[in-house]
Amino acid sequence: MLTNQKAASDPPWSASESDGFTLRSLEAAELARPTVESRLPQVICAKGDMDFPSFLKLVEKNKKQIQQSVTRNGGVLFRGFPIARPQQFQDTLQTLGLDLSPEYPLGTAPRTKVTNYVFTAREGANNFILGPHNEMSYLSMRPKWISFVCMQAPEVYGETPIFNCQTTFEDMDPEAKDFLSTEKIKYYRYMTKERTTFPLYSGAPWPQVFETEDKKEVDKVCKKYDVAYSWRPGDVLELETIAPAVVEHPETKAKCVNMNVCHWYQRVGNLKDFSDRGNNLANLYYLALAFVRQTLGTSSLRTRLANGKPIPLWVMRSLCDSLWRHSVMYRWRKGDILLIDNVLTMHGRLNVVPPREILASFGDMYHCP
Ligand SMILES: [Fe+2]
Repeated sequence: MLTNQKAASDPPWSASESDGFTLRSLEAAELARPTVESRLPQVICAKGDMDFPSFLKLVEKNKKQIQQSVTRNGGVLFRGFPIARPQQFQDTLQTLGLDLSPEYPLGTAPRTKVTNYVFTAREGANNFILGPHNEMSYLSMRPKWISFVCMQAPEVYGETPIFNCQTTFEDMDPEAKDFLSTEKIKYYRYMTKERTTFPLYSGAPWPQVFETEDKKEVDKVCKKYDVAYSWRPGDVLELETIAPAVVEHPETKAKCVNMNVCHWYQRVGNLKDFSDRGNNLANLYYLALAFVRQTLGTSSLRTRLANGKPIPLWVMRSLCDSLWRHSVMYRWRKGDILLIDNVLTMHGRLNVVPPREILASFGDMYHCP
């Protein structure tokens, strides 16, 4: 049913006794749920105590292998290293030679900048389960990678699940694979001018997304990113973009699903899959509101086919079932850094019980054909 991910040409990476770290898979005790994905992410685990400068030397020395591991396995998780401040997270990514984005261009999630290149991860709506998505998959210009750091680990829940986009695609029904390979997805975004407390509308207002209240500036940015837009009564801004649902990985050439799975059907699965978390009412509430708002066209983000027709439910069912079969739900630990390939790996966010602090950074923006 599944094929192995196409390996890069270099031999597998190994760590020696003197390297100060071990390489392994996630262990059962580190997972919130069992997974079939044994290689996602590769865990780079500290061996004993280490100060931050020594950690950066380790990263510098192994940066080529770390980058190859991200491409080959879908992601790496640094665990047990002394990461205590956002700046150290930024320094780690820059030592890896990554090109960090200072902007979150046309992003949907409410985020706040913490350093020049580090943002808060999705804020608020703690009971809301954020569905699987490749970051900014509704834009042709998107980051090649995204990274998260755990500044404060939640005592329960608050996982950032990750999903193998290649094995997900391979494991879907053949008809659904064919359908998604040939159709494109249209993303509709609806943004108010003011932050609203109206239920479910949790997207950022357009003055925050565009960092201006000047509509002419908004026009310029939309043209720059090739985004169709229209102004509606009440200072509402609507955007439309079209993107493929399946892309070829630029390096491994593997076919990967690439989407923001924000369809209301995704929330049907949440009712079934997360009923043990005691948030059934919240899941039911979000499902009902998602259905109503997607029908009315007032969701902050919704998807249809490029021709404007709904994505068939049998396709969504095959996609969602396969995604969760190929998901990895690990428990955060303070100081963890997760670095994932934004083509090979989707991410999401499960329900949160505060306190929890996760920060994000992304970059190496590229044009997805
Ligand atoms: Fe995200």
